[in-house]
Amino acid sequence: MTVPQASEDAEALLRIAVAAAVEAGRLLASWRGDERPEVVQTKSSPTDIVTAMDRRSEALITSRIRAHRPGDTVLGEEGGQTAGGSVGDDAGQAGRVRWIVDPLDGTVNYLYGLRDWAVSIAAEVDGTVVAGVVEVPRNGETFTAVAGQGAWLYRGEARLALRCSSGVPLGQALVGTGFGYDAGRRRVQGEVIAALLPYIRDIRRGGSASVDLCAVAAGRLDAFYERGLNYWDFAAGGLIAREAGALVGGLAGRTESTSMAVAAGPGLYQQLDTFLSKLKPERDAQRGQERKA
Ligand code: IPD
Ligand code: CA
Ligand code: CA
Repeated sequence: MTVPQASEDAEALLRIAVAAAVEAGRLLASWRGDERPEVVQTKSSPTDIVTAMDRRSEALITSRIRAHRPGDTVLGEEGGQTAGGSVGDDAGQAGRVRWIVDPLDGTVNYLYGLRDWAVSIAAEVDGTVVAGVVEVPRNGETFTAVAGQGAWLYRGEARLALRCSSGVPLGQALVGTGFGYDAGRRRVQGEVIAALLPYIRDIRRGGSASVDLCAVAAGRLDAFYERGLNYWDFAAGGLIAREAGALVGGLAGRTESTSMAVAAGPGLYQQLDTFLSKLKPERDAQRGQERKA
């Protein structure tokens, strides 16, 4: 696919991100073992897993970014934040650009052979996300956005402008969400979704927050919310949803964060914000409480 050349620096950053994401997606999709990929590490809980492929994907992405822009900072889920080294030809850019990388978003789906997993890469300039790509190899889809330039879906030779749904009332809304890995957090997340479910069309738990945000951008979901995402889960997908016309933020006027991220068309966002806020979803059950049931 060819991302059209346009005005800004952000376009150049997007081209680097897309090339790295597509290559990493191919690497991930090329795994053909008869058994599941080996889990090499667990993180916040025994079900919060890392496979060797998460690491290989991140190493590939980092090396591709560094080859183009050695002076930039990279924040990757597996490797943490690393500052650039020799700035070479990019001396003028040093320090301004940071890349936010989830090398495999939806690792559990990947492990189980489900389709919804993605490579997510965003580029920040001076702390603001200006470009993002979410590559979904099993669906043959590449979602991109540049700040102020709209959001696009590339599928085969087709290039489609993304637009979120609009005018959908809460009672008709198909709402995506996700659940953290910590049991105490899940208890509250379960309470919240149980309270919301009678008042919406239905819920979907896709298993990849970046894909969910792109689904909002494409009108495949009317809304999405999740407590406890990491920045790399929503940096690229959040820009894509926003550029497709969605409001992306937190509750009660806050910005999206690791505490809460919400995305929906403007009217629906307001309704969901009001409903969720009453449920106080930005809390976790006490340690041990989750074992009482
Ligand atoms: C996870 C996925 C999932 C979301 C979790 C994330 P990972 O990312 O995005 O949909 O519910 O909160 O941690 O661990 O597969 O990269
Ligand atoms: Ca993730
Ligand atoms: Ca990941």
